[in-house]
Parts: sequence; C-alpha cells; structure tokens
Amino acid sequence: MQIQITKTQNPSTMPPENELGFGRVFTDHMFIMDYEEGKGWQNARIVPFQNISLHPASTVLHYGAEIFEGLKAYRRADGGVQLFRPMENIRRMNRSAERMSLPLLPEEETLEILKTFVKLEERFVPKSFGTSLYLRPFTFGNDEALGVHAVSRATFMLIASPSGSYYKEGINPVGIMIENEDVRTVRGGTGYAKCGGNYAASTRAGERAAKKGYSQVLWLDGVERKYVEEVGAMNVMFKIGGKIVTPMLTGSILPGITRMSCIAVLKDLGYEVEERLLSVDELLQALKDGSLEEAWGCGTAAVVSPIGRLAFGEEEYVVNGGKIGEVTQKLYDILTGIQWGKEEDKFGWVYKL
Ligand code: PLP
Ligand code: COI
Repeated sequence: MQIQITKTQNPSTMPPENELGFGRVFTDHMFIMDYEEGKGWQNARIVPFQNISLHPASTVLHYGAEIFEGLKAYRRADGGVQLFRPMENIRRMNRSAERMSLPLLPEEETLEILKTFVKLEERFVPKSFGTSLYLRPFTFGNDEALGVHAVSRATFMLIASPSGSYYKEGINPVGIMIENEDVRTVRGGTGYAKCGGNYAASTRAGERAAKKGYSQVLWLDGVERKYVEEVGAMNVMFKIGGKIVTPMLTGSILPGITRMSCIAVLKDLGYEVEERLLSVDELLQALKDGSLEEAWGCGTAAVVSPIGRLAFGEEEYVVNGGKIGEVTQKLYDILTGIQWGKEEDKFGWVYKL
C-alpha cells in the first residue's frame, strides 16, 4: 500500500514522562484512509494531527457505526521499539467490523500501516518501564444520508498517545462493585466487538460505582444477570481453590488479547485454567468460605489489575487481605517482562520494528 506522508511543520515537544497520564497527549501525525463501496480502501495518508470535518448526517453520528482497537508500542531495554501480538488486534478489528457492517481491513497491509506510523512517531515512544505509546486504530461509517443500512463509505484512522505507567505507585488492588442493574451487552449483541456504543452504554454504571467509592463494576450476563462476565473494560480472572477460573467467551465478552496471553502463561506455569460459566452465587460462596484466593482484571491498558474488595449490594468482601496475590503478581511480571523486552519472549509474541 502506498502511503502519502505530509510531515508537520510544527513538531511538538514530548511532555516529561512522569506527566503523561493516559490518552491525553497525542503525537504529531495521524494516519487516515477512505473506503468507498466498489473502490475499496484508498488515499492512504499520514498527515499532521488535526481535527476532522464530518457531514452532519454522517452515519457514525446517528447510528454509532464505529469500532476501535487499542495496543501499545513498547520501548525495549536495548532502545528498540516493539508491538505485542499486533496481528491479534487486527484480526479482532475485522471481527468487530463484520459485526457492525463496516468494511474489513487487509491484515498484512494494516500491520504495515502500524509499522510505518510508529516508526515515523518513534520519538514519542517513552523510555521508562511501564510507559508506552498507546495506539488507537478506529473505523467509522461515513455515509452522508440518514437511511439505516450498512455503510457504503467509511474512514479508517490511527492516532497515538504517549502514555504513562497505568499505576503511579506500583499495582494497587482496587475495589469493585457487582453491577446488578445495567448490563454491558447480551449474547447475540455486540459484546465480542470493540464498538464505541458498548463503552458509552457502560459509563453510567461505572460512574455510579465511583460515587460509592469503587473503581469499576463487575458485569453480569445480560440475560439472567447470573454469570460473571467482565470487570469494567477488562476481562476478569479468579483463583478459586487452587485453580484459575475465567468466564468463557459466550459472545457478550470481549476476547481480550491480554486474557488469551494470561491463559497461555498460566498453563505454561502449570496452573489448571477453566474457561467456563461462573455464577455470582458461586463467586459469593467462594468469597464466604475463603476458597477465593485471588481476583484480577486484565487488559492492554493496565496489564493486570488486582481486585482487593468486592461489593454485592450492601455486603463488602475483602479478597486476599486486600493485597495483590502471588499469581497476579507473577502474571504482571511475566507479561510486562515480555512486553518491555526485559524477559525472553518464549511464546513468540513480540513484533520488533
Ligand atoms: N474487555 C473490554 C470490554 C475491553 O475494552 C478490553 C480492552 O481492550 C478488554 C476486555 C481487554 O482486551 P485486551 O486485553 O485485548 O486489551
Ligand atoms: C484496555 O486496554 O484494557 C482497555 O480497556 C482500553 C480502554 C481505554 C478502552
């Protein structure tokens, strides 16, 4: 794919690495290409980072035709830059596109786009351990008409944000509230797709949890409100009676790349991992009888995030004395070790640029 590159005339200065935060600062450029039915993807270009202009009837503004991905470029100890399982993000983006009737991307060429873009913006990949350049590819439907149908025009973009360590002072266990009212998605819905609407619909519950002093909610399934699904915008795992239990992918859960990687690492470490339905009753029972040893969320942004408190209605339960558990810590160390190039990548997951 030919990419036309127009460089900025006003290069910005990178803020100090300890002031980056998450997703607030952007690099100097952005990638953009257009899709038109019958013509395919065209006009691939990298241009200075700028606002975009949209027709007021644009499909994305009315019917939420939007999907996105999130992955990171990591600075290795030897100074090089690498991605973590980028093809998994590209494939997931195409599964999301298929669900939302948006155009699919050519996989190999999309990997080339990521590579070209990150190389151009390499100076924005921060150097301290735990920091990274967060990459946000996204596609939105762009028909300039109000009829409800699959789009015939779309835009794909890639923007990037140098981001700080997700945790300021090491990984601290967080408090989570089991959500009994709102559901994130339902089987047959869009849960397995990374589409914007899923996130808009889940912020209300997150806000309510925050008001009560909890970091996020634990989502239950949308049909029976009985089975545990995810935590906030992360997958969730538990150590119960020595085994690792994580909700099976029923269609309403996002198939996380960190989840998939955690399962592989855990199996490699010799743990038994069960991907199955886990009811909230079973979870509460395990909390009460002490067989719940550890609980954590996992996702690209935070890697792993230990759960120290779980609330259900008026009851609050403490997990592992409110401290990070042994397995959670081990997973964090192994995954971050591979991602930041400090540990041998025996799984073949890193993609060096
Ligand atoms: N679940 C949801 C709803 C998410 O948005 C994410 C984040 O991307 C994840 C899980 C974790 O997925 P991954 O590990 O691929 O980042
Ligand atoms: C994750 O990377 O774990 C996320 O949930 C990303 C979020 C900003 C959508």
